[in-house]
Amino acid sequence: MARSRITGIAFHVPPRVVTNHDLERMMDTSDAWIVERTGIRERHFVEGDVGSSELGIEAARKALADAGRAPADVDFVIFATSTPDFQIPGNGVLVQKTLGLGNAGALDVRNACSGFLYSLSVADAFVRVGRYRCVLVIGAEVQSTGIQLTTGGRDMAVLFGDGAGAAVVEPCEEGRGILSWALHADGRFARDLWCEAPSSRVPGRVTHEMLDSGRQLPSMNGRQVFKHATTRFPEVIHEVLRDAGHALDDVKLIVPHQANQRIGDAVAQRLGVAPEKVFQNIQRYGNTTAASIPIALTEARDAGLFQDGDLIVLAAFGAGFAWAGCALRW
Ligand code: UT7
Repeated sequence: MARSRITGIAFHVPPRVVTNHDLERMMDTSDAWIVERTGIRERHFVEGDVGSSELGIEAARKALADAGRAPADVDFVIFATSTPDFQIPGNGVLVQKTLGLGNAGALDVRNACSGFLYSLSVADAFVRVGRYRCVLVIGAEVQSTGIQLTTGGRDMAVLFGDGAGAAVVEPCEEGRGILSWALHADGRFARDLWCEAPSSRVPGRVTHEMLDSGRQLPSMNGRQVFKHATTRFPEVIHEVLRDAGHALDDVKLIVPHQANQRIGDAVAQRLGVAPEKVFQNIQRYGNTTAASIPIALTEARDAGLFQDGDLIVLAAFGAGFAWAGCALRW
């Protein structure tokens, strides 16, 4: 069976930069607290009515250019987002229309932080069975419109940012490309990182009481997420390396979902690898959920941190809880 590989990758963030000092003026927090607990110094927020599809489309245009492909080459779109423009339909069809992808199929994946890796695994499977030859995988989020920029919402407000990343996945020769992936979930923790409304369990989908208490906005049990993330990241990294027949020493770079710098540091420590082997750019983007891996992978590639033929491991953990890993030879 043929392998698939990422032939193009790119990202796009909205121009407005929001620093920790900007947040200090909106809520009871401090640059020192945010840097110490998360590593984040600034993030990007959209302005006006820009939705996650628009960010994703910009990233997709750049990824197609990076792959040397035109929209007409794309035969399937997978859009990972927890913050779609609409409840129905998904963002994928908005990409399909705006980029003019003929009648290419479009799938939305709602696995939040692990959404990009879940999507990449679907693209890999489609390409490997020979069903599609050029799959566009997008991860994009607008988190800023779902956070409360007040002291009551500060745990979420300081952590999240907006952005998008995209990858083009195509067949490749033996010896490179996606070598293995693993997908996991544990729904016992569904309510530890969630957004309850609008809900099909509620007549009318949302009530005034729900709106007044902010149940249409995401919330989380930060400590619980932190505890599980620091265990699941190393676990899934070992798993995909084992399945690919490789050891940690073979790995050039680990690119994890950017959840919190302390989580990234803990992952390096638990794996027993040098901190610089775990790429982190959360300092400048915050946690961009489904977008964080393609943004980080693009920056790491552009910084020359890996070359053709290097072994790379991607890993993600988040809402669900759901987590995933992927080993690939660039
Ligand atoms: O992609 C997955 C998505 N989620 C995550 O990755 C989140 C993982 N968890 C985390 O990153 C951390 O749990 C947080 C950064 C969210 C919080 O850090 P923490 O060390 O777990 O802090 P905490 O929630 O235990 O809060 C410690 C204190 C509390 O005050 P008291 O009760 O000790 O007086 C909070 O009220 O810090 C307070 N606090 C803040 N202070 C200033 C909480 N948020 C803030 C804030 N600024 N933004």
